[in-house]
Amino acid sequence: MSGLSLNDYPAHKALHDEILGGAEEQLDSMKTLLNKLEHKELAEEMESFIEYVETRVLGHFDEEESGTGFYDRAVGREPALHDKVQGLKRDHELIRMMTARMKEELAKEDVDFQKLIDHSVSIILVDEIHSRDEEDILLGGRE
Ligand SMILES: [Fe+2]
Ligand SMILES: [Fe+2]
Repeated sequence: MSGLSLNDYPAHKALHDEILGGAEEQLDSMKTLLNKLEHKELAEEMESFIEYVETRVLGHFDEEESGTGFYDRAVGREPALHDKVQGLKRDHELIRMMTARMKEELAKEDVDFQKLIDHSVSIILVDEIHSRDEEDILLGGRE
């Protein structure tokens, strides 16, 4: 997505919703596999969830922070937004940390799948709150 369309409320919100929807779908199938104790398949799903988060979620964050300069330009236009944008960057950082922890857990000999599901739920929740805040703070929110 180009820098210009990130400034567009409906387009940016649609992108957030699409990213969240994909993550929620994967979480549902991981929960089903956990209930069925299908650990081998679950490990593969976890790997693909992490890959999805890295590509779509963290990829979107990188675009906002550096790629398109979306955040910098918003603060440039309105310097009073500086602290709020720092808060949004912290949300990005939290999700990066949670993703790194998931990778560490998945690399262990004895994987704690419940812990990985809990991390996935947290990532989705923080991303949802973050997306709504970002839409409100930088895009004028609910039209
Ligand atoms: Fe963001
Ligand atoms: Fe965003």
